Amino acid sequence: MNVDFSEAITAYPVQWYQKMQQEHPVFYDMERKMWHIFRYKDIYEALSTPDTFASRIEGKESQTELSRRSYFRTLLSRVFSPDLVMLGEKRLVEHAHSLLDRVQARGQMDFVADFASPFAFRVLAEILGIPFEDEESLRYWSYFFVLDEHEEERQKCMQQMDAYFSRLVQVCRRSTSDGLICALAEAVVDGQRLAMGELVAFCELLFAGSLEPLAHLIGSTLLCLSEQPEAYSAVQADTALLPRALEEVLRYRSPVKCVTRRVLQKTQLDGYALAEGDIVNLWLGAANVDPAAFPHAHRFDIYRASNPHLSFGHGMHYCLGKPLVLIGVATAWKVVLQRLPGLHIEPEARLQAVPSSFILGVQHLPVRW
Ligand code: HEM
Repeated sequence: MNVDFSEAITAYPVQWYQKMQQEHPVFYDMERKMWHIFRYKDIYEALSTPDTFASRIEGKESQTELSRRSYFRTLLSRVFSPDLVMLGEKRLVEHAHSLLDRVQARGQMDFVADFASPFAFRVLAEILGIPFEDEESLRYWSYFFVLDEHEEERQKCMQQMDAYFSRLVQVCRRSTSDGLICALAEAVVDGQRLAMGELVAFCELLFAGSLEPLAHLIGSTLLCLSEQPEAYSAVQADTALLPRALEEVLRYRSPVKCVTRRVLQKTQLDGYALAEGDIVNLWLGAANVDPAAFPHAHRFDIYRASNPHLSFGHGMHYCLGKPLVLIGVATAWKVVLQRLPGLHIEPEARLQAVPSSFILGVQHLPVRW
């Protein structure tokens, strides 16, 4: 079957999602050698059955790996608990102000490069314990980390990121300091310290896997509110609406487009036979605009009564960063609304998508106020 995947990386592939849901809700892609799943109910089912659909692509996790994963998750859920994240809110407010101090007098900026991305970096640097002075390199590497293009540069960035996080872990092991990465470097699970490779992979998941979606969620909020001026005015008038508005942005412009699973035992999905070892791509962004799951799914509606979107996944691998994301983005937006009341996208702006089948966002977002 011939399916045009270039549409999957357009700025907002809602039409493509819709078309795939209607025409090929479950299909095998010969070129990439994987299944693609688009309907909410099928994706929900796959995410709910990790014994059949495993997140580890290389195969089943060993008992040791499972115990390490559960240790990581326990440690992370403590660090990311809403109460602890709230404690850091004051610092996040300061970061948002200091970024706007740099641009306020100009009356214009690139909302992604000048605000959303550096703000997301600072949020993560605070919590992970990454030195602020490394911002430029880390943002550059993480941008390439999620791209479908520039494979050579992407590989180079990944190697540089590996080397960077190895050094950071070594520094942590020589002298104790704050932050989640040092806590992990020091951790002892089942009587053993975690191996360097494991730690580096985990740092990359935590940093590069979350910087881009976090930054683009901040930008996508502006795209959604600009599309719906009544919603924009309502949020400006009452910032208590922000949490609901953000949940709707998460649904309507799912920052992570898809997650991948490996089939551990032969199974059926929507009548299709999947074999052991098959790779499955679950399109979360499509599930979130499935009309069978959400009434008037293609409308951005901050007053939606129920919003069980899958933007943070579901089940065993559900996103642990969620409290940090919601508090961080709401904090950023409160400061933006307070300081830049006339903020709007440049009318002539030609927005270009980040060329990624994994992350939804625009490369630049020129704004004025
Ligand atoms: C808008 C921002 C974010 C979005 C949309 C997002 C989305 C997701 C999704 C879809 C998953 C499920 C992956 C799967 O099922 O395979 C996930 C897992 C996870 N996320 Fe996030 N995430 C965001 C930010 C963050 C942040 C800021 C952190 C922490 C620094 C974080 C940490 C994690 C962790 C630890 C997991 C669990 C991985 C596992 O157990 O395999 N995320 N996230």
